[in-house]
Amino acid sequence: MSDRIVFNLAPDDIPTAWYNIMPDLPVPPLPPLHPGTGEPVTPDLLAPLFPESLIMQEVSTDRWIDIPGPVIDIYRLWRPSPMYRARRLEQALQTPARIYFKYEGGSPAGSHKPNTAVAQAYYNKEAGIKRLTTETGAGQWGSALSMACQFFGLDCLVFMVRASFDQKPYRRIFMETFGAEVRPSPSSTTESGKKILEGDPNSTGSLGIAISEASEVAAQDPTTNYTLGSVLNHVLLHQTVIGLEAKKQIEMAGEQPDVIIGCVGGGSNYAGFSYPFMADRLAGNLNARFVACEPAACPTLTRGKFAYDFADTGETTPLFPMYTLGHTFIPAPVHAGGLRYHGDAPSLSLLVREGHMEAKAFTQNQIFDAAVQFARAQGIVPAPEPAHAIRQVIDEAVEAREAGQEKVILFNLCGHGHFDMQAYDDYLNGRLPEFELSEDALTDGLAHVPPVPVPG
Ligand SMILES: Cc1ncc(COP(=O)(O)O)c(C=O)c1O
Repeated sequence: MSDRIVFNLAPDDIPTAWYNIMPDLPVPPLPPLHPGTGEPVTPDLLAPLFPESLIMQEVSTDRWIDIPGPVIDIYRLWRPSPMYRARRLEQALQTPARIYFKYEGGSPAGSHKPNTAVAQAYYNKEAGIKRLTTETGAGQWGSALSMACQFFGLDCLVFMVRASFDQKPYRRIFMETFGAEVRPSPSSTTESGKKILEGDPNSTGSLGIAISEASEVAAQDPTTNYTLGSVLNHVLLHQTVIGLEAKKQIEMAGEQPDVIIGCVGGGSNYAGFSYPFMADRLAGNLNARFVACEPAACPTLTRGKFAYDFADTGETTPLFPMYTLGHTFIPAPVHAGGLRYHGDAPSLSLLVREGHMEAKAFTQNQIFDAAVQFARAQGIVPAPEPAHAIRQVIDEAVEAREAGQEKVILFNLCGHGHFDMQAYDDYLNGRLPEFELSEDALTDGLAHVPPVPVPG
């Protein structure tokens, strides 16, 4: 074993095709349904929101999809991203486990989100679209899309979840620096926003509400399209550049992972990181565990129900087969704003349901405890979202120490926490409230899931 701590690929090692897990899933995926007819959604229904090229990717069963040259040219600004061995954390924990992490926080916007933002802006520009709308939770996705729109000469309108808008003014200013317009959500500028504000003028918002607002604006204007930062198949596949690079890098380290860990909001970073490894597991070539981590305040995979549900609060989207807490559910305002989503990507939900992935939920103080340990050992202050993954990494490493067992742990550090200082300040001064979803709130959320039967 070498003493190396950085595993860098050469500039020309950027993947030239994205990996699509659809043909390799262990059971056929269920189709999204039209909420009115209950029939599978046809591509033409998505046309008011997305360009044809992205709709075709959404329904594609091709294993590989070529990455356009102009997208690769922009990826070159920060890709290939590095993989590190966290030797200092291993030492601090006195563990025999070997801990590796892929680092996506070095992208210009500070997370994995530009991997799909750049692709989505490119395809929309190609289709003659002038403006993109979107939602953002933590502000990372909005930042990535604002940057991508600027690169391709598109206008950008971002609905930022009210809780994050108030917690993170610098994220808003970051987006405005790239020329984006940022509105707090719920806003009084859309019908779906007004409806929520009528019921609760102090609503802290949710990703589900912001999606309704952003898609409503796009549906009303033929020159404006909508973009989603997670959940959909095409978004997940754009993120597979992370896992494809990580596979080469872990090979470079002469290792095979025993456990592959990531955080899950809608599922894009964990899918993008883990699916290239999952392909090996599904083919019988990798005997690794896969652990998806989420907040106890929004425990979709650990306590949600596998059901057909809307992707937004305003009930404007198709019904997706996924783990859900109910589309009306508004999570407590935890600082991991990017994980406050009631549902999860259908393919990731399927893999959990079929037993190929485990899921774990943690509270705010548990994850900030892990984040601070990581920062003090490795020098990187993580975003609250990947701090969920770090909690599981540390728990696995301590378990390995107690069992006197060697183990290779691999995780994705999908964003830095430089805009999350308020959260760190609250944690360090003992002001961080613990939120755990109550049984009553869970029952209430699930009561709003449409009564559509799920086969299987
Ligand atoms: C840094 C970071 N990690 C993770 C997420 C969660 O989203 P996803 O599950 O799509 O990766 C977000 C979402 O905004 C994020 O900003």
